[in-house]
Amino acid sequence: MPNRTFAIIKPDAVNSGYTGKIYDRILQADFKILSAKLMRMTLAQAEGFYLVHKERPFYGELTTFMSSGACMVLALEKENAVSAWRETIGATNPEDAAEGTIRKDFATSLGENAVHGSDTDENAEKEIAFFFTESELICNQ
Ligand code: CMP
Repeated sequence: MPNRTFAIIKPDAVNSGYTGKIYDRILQADFKILSAKLMRMTLAQAEGFYLVHKERPFYGELTTFMSSGACMVLALEKENAVSAWRETIGATNPEDAAEGTIRKDFATSLGENAVHGSDTDENAEKEIAFFFTESELICNQ
């Protein structure tokens, strides 16, 4: 049974003009896009989304960056969506990302790493619900 994951094309990638190329990678990897929107997060939204990292030294840098410009948020569906998307995007630090992954090809640093992916099914559902209402998810495609 297919399940869902949540993705963000981050401000660095949108700003560099990579939105279309990354969207294409998503389709090439056979994800169904249940919903996608271009938006600019407020600082409060970024702080809420990354609340789990609140105590980390990079929290301020991360939330400032994520609210610095447009990003695209996406709800994706595929068999084993969480692990499949994490494989497609590569390691968090682009220096460690495998050849052919999105972060290897489009990310510049650990902080500005082009894309986000949920780490568990439970977090995927929470993260999708943070940005999308149920009626915005187009399930009957
Ligand atoms: P992401 O998958 O969006 O989840 C949390 C983000 O925090 C991560 O991608 C990185 O962009 C960022 N991050 C993780 N570690 C660091 C760090 N040491 N310095 C700056 N940003 C980091």
